[in-house]
Amino acid sequence: MSEALLELNGLSKAFGAHQVLDGVSARIRPGEIVGLLGPNGSGKSTLLNAISGFLPPDAGRVTIAGTDITARPAHVVTRAGLARTFQLPNMPTRMTTREVLRAGDVAAGAPRHMLRRTGRDDRIDALLEMFRLAHVADLPASSLSGGQKKLLSVALALRGSPRLLCLDEPTAGVHPELRTEMVRILKQAAGEGTTLLVIEHDMLFIRQLCSRCIVLDRGHLIADCAPDELEHNGAVVEAYLGKAVQKGKTAR
Ligand SMILES: Nc1ncnc2c1ncn2[C@@H]1O[C@H](COP(=O)(O)OP(=O)(O)OP(=O)(O)O)[C@@H](O)[C@H]1O
Ligand SMILES: [Mg+2]
Repeated sequence: MSEALLELNGLSKAFGAHQVLDGVSARIRPGEIVGLLGPNGSGKSTLLNAISGFLPPDAGRVTIAGTDITARPAHVVTRAGLARTFQLPNMPTRMTTREVLRAGDVAAGAPRHMLRRTGRDDRIDALLEMFRLAHVADLPASSLSGGQKKLLSVALALRGSPRLLCLDEPTAGVHPELRTEMVRILKQAAGEGTTLLVIEHDMLFIRQLCSRCIVLDRGHLIADCAPDELEHNGAVVEAYLGKAVQKGKTAR
């Protein structure tokens, strides 16, 4: 196996007596697009927080391209090449959609006063078009709808062409037509060198986008397989539907 871009070794996290992550280990190779699945509350967002420096794990190790970033602050993890989005994105009230995208330039080293420049930026215009945000480019980012904020957060994460992009439910609240477009955009990013870890509940999106899935259930990694194999995996079926399905009953 080639060297992993992202390697997780025995990551654990508890909130009080609640063990939310319990010894999670996984490897993601450069250029892979991996889905991170699991029922509600299984620990997916917590795992992303532990990887990206938003929540120090209690135990375990995270490396990006061999560099140990365990429990390093988020800005250090960003410098190591990781960009992420949030399940519920917050946007600033005093910046327009376009200015939020320009803020990606700060991470790339442009001076802050450039943020409010009025000149056009082809890459930003292309992202605004791609994510159907051109008509709200000059509105306060905080005034966007939930789905538009989600799109803006994905566009922003892509802005810096990160080495590793972690997305937390990127299609939640997004129109189905645009989900298909997002698959195309994310595959293009992968083709240009970005490795992706994508939390998602939409299985059609996962099948179209991902070559491999890892599945969490109550803080344990219970499967690592191709999307098409998930429905034949007993542990996955049981995690999602409960034991009722094994007795020939439907879970709903
Ligand atoms: N800061 C926190 N303090 C206490 N408990 C937390 C905290 N963050 C998460 N949890 C708990 O950890 C568990 C896993 O939460 P997490 O957000 O990781 O789930 P998830 O798999 O992302 O679920 P969903 O699909 O609903 O987004 C939940 O039971 C949640 O209540
Ligand atoms: Mg979540």
